[in-house]
Amino acid sequence: MTFTPASPAVTERAAVTGPVAESVAYPNIALVKYWGKRDEDLFLPVTGSLSMTLDIFPTTTSVRMIEGPTDVIEFNGVAATGAARTRIETFLDLVRARAGRADRAMVVTSNAGPTGAGLASSASGFAALATAAAAAYELDLDGRALSRLARRGSGSASRSIFGGFVVWHAGEGEGEAGDLSSYAEPIGGDGLDPALVVAVVNQGAKAVSSRAAMRETTATSPFYRPWAESSVLDLAEMRTAIARRDLPAIGEIAERNALGMHATMLTARPGIRYLSPHSIAVLDAVLALRADGIPAYATIDAGPNVKVLCTRADAPRVSAVLDGLGDFVTTRTAHIGPGASLTTSSASPE
Ligand code: DP6
Repeated sequence: MTFTPASPAVTERAAVTGPVAESVAYPNIALVKYWGKRDEDLFLPVTGSLSMTLDIFPTTTSVRMIEGPTDVIEFNGVAATGAARTRIETFLDLVRARAGRADRAMVVTSNAGPTGAGLASSASGFAALATAAAAAYELDLDGRALSRLARRGSGSASRSIFGGFVVWHAGEGEGEAGDLSSYAEPIGGDGLDPALVVAVVNQGAKAVSSRAAMRETTATSPFYRPWAESSVLDLAEMRTAIARRDLPAIGEIAERNALGMHATMLTARPGIRYLSPHSIAVLDAVLALRADGIPAYATIDAGPNVKVLCTRADAPRVSAVLDGLGDFVTTRTAHIGPGASLTTSSASPE
């Protein structure tokens, strides 16, 4: 995503006409990946996916009604432009259509973590925006409806509406039937308290967006169908492993599912490669940790950064080993985080 340099006080110029709704949402990391849409407009996925919501890198978003012909959107302290602005405006249009209202909005959003670097900023971003915009436009949505709404901003955002372990159902059928049946819901996992050591090897925004990469891969990789078929089985096995609280099984399934997803990208035509030599160095360190008897498992999204699943007790050792690889890697340890929440309700003006 690209942004213009800080344009002073875009938000100060807008005349506010309503109360504020502010929300916070956290990223989630998929242990069984969402990779491929069967409907691009409705964000219906080819397969179901399963994630863990984190307790780091939240997005905070406020939405309020303003006078005037256009939305005012501030992203990480600057006026949003280009694709980033269009995505948010398009999402607000959807909310307005549902609410039967035409009011323009002022949206102020900021990410505590890196944006567009494969660290799930669009998941926390659209989960926070869906939560705040639904409140500001007075849509009365339950968790399932909010998850379906967030899905329309970014598929993975459907899962960040909930905390803990979350499954996003692929849903059945097309059109409205598909839309109604494709939502996320929490799946328990009580008693599981893993850590996810995030090894950041590159904070920069990625060259190819996950949306474009997913489209190319689905359309051109001969490995896509086999991966999607095996991912359906991975999801079923993952649910059983979570119910059993079996961290090594959870880790093994997550690692093979992610590496399989990257195999589909590598075999797209032309191939798409997010993994860098630094990612491979982290993957080698994870193998070495396992050889030393530490149950640690890697997963990687549409970027070079590697997330390592392990027990809470082993996290300091895992992060020390990864930090010790060199200056190219820094780690942050996450645990299970909460679902999206409204921090200021539109019912209570500032
Ligand atoms: C690799 O949710 O960012 O992180 O729906 O096009 O916005 P869009 O894609 P997005 O894709 C996430 C892909 C992934 C895997 C996952 O989170 O399941």
